[in-house]
Amino acid sequence: MARVMLSHPRVSHILVLDDDRAIRRTLEKFLSGEGYRVTTTADEREAVAAASGVDVVLLDLGLPTVDGLDVLEQLRKLDDAPTVIVVTARDDMDSTVKAIQRGAWDYVVKPLDVGRMRLTLRRAIEARDATRALRMLVEDGARDIEAGGIIGQSPAMRELYKSIGAISLNRASVLILGESGTGKELVARAIHRASAERERPFVAVNCTAFARELLESELFGHVRGAFTGANADRAGRFELAGNGTLFLDEIAEMPVDLQAKLLRVLQERTFERVGDARPLRVNARIVAATHRDLPAMIARGAFRQDLYYRLNVVVLRLAPLRERREDIGLLTRALLARISREMHKDVRAVSEEALSLLERYDWPGNVRELENVLTRAVVLSRGPVLTADLLPLDAADERAPNGEEPRADDAVLTLRELERRHIAHVLELTQWNKRRACSLLDISRPTLDRKIEDFCLARQER
Ligand SMILES: Nc1ncnc2c1ncn2[C@@H]1O[C@H](COP(=O)(O)OP(=O)(O)OP(=O)(O)O)[C@@H](O)[C@H]1O
Ligand SMILES: [Mg+2]
Repeated sequence: MARVMLSHPRVSHILVLDDDRAIRRTLEKFLSGEGYRVTTTADEREAVAAASGVDVVLLDLGLPTVDGLDVLEQLRKLDDAPTVIVVTARDDMDSTVKAIQRGAWDYVVKPLDVGRMRLTLRRAIEARDATRALRMLVEDGARDIEAGGIIGQSPAMRELYKSIGAISLNRASVLILGESGTGKELVARAIHRASAERERPFVAVNCTAFARELLESELFGHVRGAFTGANADRAGRFELAGNGTLFLDEIAEMPVDLQAKLLRVLQERTFERVGDARPLRVNARIVAATHRDLPAMIARGAFRQDLYYRLNVVVLRLAPLRERREDIGLLTRALLARISREMHKDVRAVSEEALSLLERYDWPGNVRELENVLTRAVVLSRGPVLTADLLPLDAADERAPNGEEPRADDAVLTLRELERRHIAHVLELTQWNKRRACSLLDISRPTLDRKIEDFCLARQER
């Protein structure tokens, strides 16, 4: 006998928990209009009691007597738990990450955009059956996180926070892609801090910072006598990272033969110290980052395709600043506060003209360049207001169409001379605040000290 497949689809049931009566009314009207069955309540106990079997709960985080995140947890523990969409005015990275970690399906910020809400709900309901099948893969249970430092409220950044929340629940390798200065290292640290292993070490290796042999022994360690100069046993970064996170920065710069070795280590989860045969286990989570176009490098034979496939499982793409201009104001305010504090200046405001310039500029160097420009402006400013004359920027829409800048100095410099001048310039800019200089140059303090000595740089007395 032929079975009749469902001829009329089931009406999805949506429960709204919000203490704001006006929002309950609006949502009820909108959702019934969309053809859903709707229940609304302001009482979280009532909501939890009624939620089993409900398809979607729209949950407000800012409830008067209880934290919505706790309600979220209770809801997710129910048998036949509903899909929960957090709908809240609380618009920060911490709440977003926590909500996603505790099992929220999506995070929607008030005021509500009806079109987006419609789409989010449709997707949630479509995904519900699939989610039922997948739930076993997702570790339940709350993890308190302390993930700070990343600034941005643009849609791209909000999606990023959700991804960090989801990634923090497992130990899979992560590949972070993005132009220079988009915050790849910051994100690597945020992933670590959001994970259950946040008390364990976070160990970073910059693959450009070492010659090939040194890089190998940096990564895997060596035993005494393994090569000339190896006069003691030494643990590598894989070992030092232990159960924490190993951040392989500038992975594209790793020599191809080392890439092969790294691939083997990732596949077998074991490695040996250089000059030793004893296998050691890899327990650390691997986070790799690059600003390079890996597929293009693979095409030229400069990056191994097999390693790329291995790393390419969980990928975070950080958007360049010019694609999220709405974050520029926010970043400017936060960075200015930090820079002013560090430079012992008090720049409290930004003129309208200056902000408009910042918002229109193209930012090829992304957030690092913004930090640079603001540091310079803070140093040069003589009052509490940052004005446009302190910003040497050409707004994108005012530049020549081919984007070429006239060059002030056409002499061909050696790389070394260019480096010397640039370091001297940054030191002057930061008034020899070496911590800031390191951060702007993206080098370590020992590296900076070595270069100062090497180039015989000295502070000019005024
Ligand atoms: N979203 C953000 N909020 C606050 N600060 C940021 C953000 N993104 C980047 N920064 C700051 O900008 C600087 C550059 O960030 P980071 O070093 O993480 O970039 P990156 O992507 O690793 O760059 P590169 O490829 O050049 O190494 C750092 O000082 C960092 O703190
Ligand atoms: Mg970096």
